[in-house]
Amino acid sequence: MKAAMSESIFRKDGTAQGVAKQRLIESIAKPEERIINDPYADRFVLGASFIKLMGHKLNVWLAENLVPGFHEHLISRTRFIDDLIKKSAASGVEQYVILGAGYDSRAHRLELPSSLRIFEVDQPEVQARKRSKLPKELPNLENITYVAVDFSHQSLTEQLMDAGFDQSKSTVFTLEGVSQYITKEAFDSMIKEMAALTQKANSIFFVSYASELLNKNPEACFGKGYPNAEKRAKLITYGSAKVGEPWISFYGAEEIESVLSQNGYSIKENVTLKDLNSRYFAPVGRTLSENQLLQLEHFLVAKSQN
Ligand SMILES: C[S@@+](CC[C@H](N)C(=O)[O-])C[C@H]1O[C@@H](n2cnc3c(N)ncnc32)[C@H](O)[C@@H]1O
Repeated sequence: MKAAMSESIFRKDGTAQGVAKQRLIESIAKPEERIINDPYADRFVLGASFIKLMGHKLNVWLAENLVPGFHEHLISRTRFIDDLIKKSAASGVEQYVILGAGYDSRAHRLELPSSLRIFEVDQPEVQARKRSKLPKELPNLENITYVAVDFSHQSLTEQLMDAGFDQSKSTVFTLEGVSQYITKEAFDSMIKEMAALTQKANSIFFVSYASELLNKNPEACFGKGYPNAEKRAKLITYGSAKVGEPWISFYGAEEIESVLSQNGYSIKENVTLKDLNSRYFAPVGRTLSENQLLQLEHFLVAKSQN
């Protein structure tokens, strides 16, 4: 892995760039056809001018040929969390912790109440690059605190508390496209720390996870009718490993439910791209067909029972 990292043009941010690239591709669609708009994504993507020149449709077509539904999977995940955060903020949640924030610009893209405190957590290198590329004047900047944490060997509690996290305030945590990159031990201790940090307040936790079926039985993982599942599964995991960030953790449904419930969280929502097709794509005239419904990750929303 070390060799792959040093040979790579990416410095710990290959997958963060990959997701930002799909957000850029979506943002250049016609306003009435797109499901998210990220005006900052282009700053983080190599070859952004070329992508813009090619336009939304051609980029999506190319992505569809490689892995059908991959683009839609990633942008529906972003939209799903956007909706969760807007809804939570409107119902009075006071803090938002973005775990493994990468080049996500939700804190600036969404209209959020100024009372919502936001903590962006990621590896120091990725965070430093993000900050150097964002414009100096940004909506909501004063409400954001950057917290540098490497989940593999640093405590979330210590860093968050030092950054001003308030244990008496209701909090949403999101872990978007990250669980597959960290060990199960790191994931386990992250949830334990979240639960302990919010003992006195309500907390909501969004997590996306890759099913263990991805390796064992890609056809069953991606869903009936999805073409060349095994080849596509290999392409996805190969692509991440190639940029120096291999997928190392996969979960069974019972396993993830058990980790959550041991820490006081119960699952309130569990969806995949298949469920989000009618919610997001159908209304803008982009209904996906069965052979595009890539069930790559599950999107879970869990709540603590405080
Ligand atoms: C696929 S990107 C997702 C980024 C962002 N959540 C999004 O959806 O755009 C994975 C993110 O996890 C972060 N990450 C991976 N391993 C990490 C670790 N050990 N500690 C902290 N962050 C980590 C990476 O730096 C990267 O930003």
